[in-house]
Amino acid sequence: MTSLVDIRDDDTIRVVRMNRPEKKNALNAAMYEVMAAALTGLRSEQAIRCVVIAGCPGAFCAGNDIDEFRQAAADGEGLGEPVLRFLRALAYCERPLVAAVDGLAVGIGTTMLLHCDYVVASQGSRFVTPFVSLGLVPEAASTLLAPRLMGPRRAFSMLVMGEPLDAQGALGIGLVNAVAESAETEAQALAAARRIAALPPEAVLASRRMIRGEPEELAERIDVEADFFRERLQSPEAQAAFEAFFARKK
Ligand code: COA
Repeated sequence: MTSLVDIRDDDTIRVVRMNRPEKKNALNAAMYEVMAAALTGLRSEQAIRCVVIAGCPGAFCAGNDIDEFRQAAADGEGLGEPVLRFLRALAYCERPLVAAVDGLAVGIGTTMLLHCDYVVASQGSRFVTPFVSLGLVPEAASTLLAPRLMGPRRAFSMLVMGEPLDAQGALGIGLVNAVAESAETEAQALAAARRIAALPPEAVLASRRMIRGEPEELAERIDVEADFFRERLQSPEAQAAFEAFFARKK
């Protein structure tokens, strides 16, 4: 059986690949657990110097599994521990994070990129965060990181109005570092990871820490957003949006 998330250590680089192509890499609880574990405890894994997050051709990640949102709403739950563990693992990750985005990056597929240190996107990639049209609120500390990166107005159009960005748009606001041909995207991300891995590791980590600021600030925002998120999941607005998603093909 192929795993939904493939983790491979190649010398100094760990590659975390979301691998659920039939669902466009929508993330379910099991996938969040594996991804969180792959990003946690890296301080003691001296051999690993950089982590690359990748998806499948055409689908980086279609966001949280909407069926699981629907179930969580029915059970009176919120984002759920596996999601929160993954978000905290991003915030506290002790190695540089590189992403290779080819195709769709929806919801958490985009907000996780705000935690990455270097992102390569294919020319055809598309970034969209439809939280509010689903009756939800943004997560992953994106309400803190997005305005910081792109300014509050562009953060509003992306996170609240759900306006999509193409690769050039993402490059323009600093969400990605480089745009590549689809077939070259992962190779370019791996090459960047190797350049990072070749640098003096302690100096990289100290510099990264200062650039990123304190992870506790991110963790606090993740928790604040999660409280709103739980409330919104129970709302008639969200439930109607989930039903509409699954009814769209009928
Ligand atoms: N949760 C659950 N299932 C999802 C999903 C998600 N987030 N995204 C895609 N899928 C499933 C679809 O239901 C479909 O399953 P099926 O073949 O059993 O019907 C399969 O993945 C392929 O998706 P499909 O919609 O047919 O592909 P597409 O190329 O036409 O559209 C998307 C791709 C990502 C644009 C579209 O699926 C979509 O909008 N997904 C929801 C994204 C979203 O809102 N995520 C939550 C953000 S907070």
